[in-house]
Amino acid sequence: MKILVTGGAGFIGSHTVVELHQAGFQPVILDNLYNSNRSVLNGIKQITGVDFPFYEYDCNDLEKLRELFDKEQFDGVIHFAAYKAVGESVQKPLAYYENNLVSLLNLLNVMQEYKVPNFVFSSSCTVYGQPESLPVTEDTPRLPATSPYGNTKAIAEDIIRDHVHAAPSVKAIALRYFNPIGAHESGLIGELPNGVPSNLVPYITQTAAGLRDSLTVFGDDYDTADGTCVRDFIHVVDLAKAHVKALSLLEQTEASNYYDVFNVGTGEGYTVLNLINTFETVNNLKLNYNIGPRRAGDVEKIYAQADKVNTIMNWKAEKTLAESLRDAWNWQLKITQTK
Ligand code: UD1
Repeated sequence: MKILVTGGAGFIGSHTVVELHQAGFQPVILDNLYNSNRSVLNGIKQITGVDFPFYEYDCNDLEKLRELFDKEQFDGVIHFAAYKAVGESVQKPLAYYENNLVSLLNLLNVMQEYKVPNFVFSSSCTVYGQPESLPVTEDTPRLPATSPYGNTKAIAEDIIRDHVHAAPSVKAIALRYFNPIGAHESGLIGELPNGVPSNLVPYITQTAAGLRDSLTVFGDDYDTADGTCVRDFIHVVDLAKAHVKALSLLEQTEASNYYDVFNVGTGEGYTVLNLINTFETVNNLKLNYNIGPRRAGDVEKIYAQADKVNTIMNWKAEKTLAESLRDAWNWQLKITQTK
């Protein structure tokens, strides 16, 4: 099974390429390198021993996609390529809608033209907003998005659902990720944020490595155990494995018009301070951090109920928070040393 991985040089994409290979799939990487680095391809090659086909294309370029689908006969597509910075999306909504939605429409169109049946989409728990009750299940109502980024995920889910209903040859799954962290245990691939990271764990590892002065914890007056926000932090390798399971499920599903959504989280919520303390303990260091005001738009607490993905896909998160934070630090040390 040959699988196109858009955004395959990115954080989740690169780990998924490795897991696809290990499960016997043949990944083909497409990435415009806008928010990723060519060196990641080398890391993937070192881990797997394989130099996977790589196309420096943009999914917004329909003609390039057609060229690619002409050349390679795909059995499925995993679509990661997207803009993902919540704050930036508020500043540049049109760029986010255009990039994240035109690329999706192009892919669905080309898949239909070339009769490619299986589609896995990167969605996000952001579609739930601040849910009224926890943990969130897939039936928890989606709330109006609090950012253009979040809205692109909700709209994309709707586009895919409507398309699958109209196009019996296509089967699709949207995976609603919780908070992906960590890195490959080899330390050869991991997260490579562009500029100042907005996500918690890269900010922590860069601070611990001395690349930033200190971390600001955004608010300690939330209604949680220690006042800081609660998230469901999932190891990126576990998340990558969920994509392999999703593809396998699509492959085995004969029903046409199949579309479903799955939460991909550990099912456990940890506070930001829990995470910082675990990071310090597992890596035996002290982090310079201070408590600051709340960040606009942050959800107070969210974590998954992962029963559906456990039961239907036979997938469960295996790695602990401590393992994730050890791997994230190991990766940061490697990239800091090689700079
Ligand atoms: C959000 C979305 C997620 C989306 C991601 C994209 C929700 C619940 N989650 O993640 O779906 O994919 O954006 O980037 O909407 N924090 C600090 N200091 C920092 C950075 C973060 O205290 O310097 C805190 C935040 O306030 C938050 C937690 O750490 O409570 C996690 O933040 P972050 O890593 O940015 O992810 P989310 O905002 O949860």
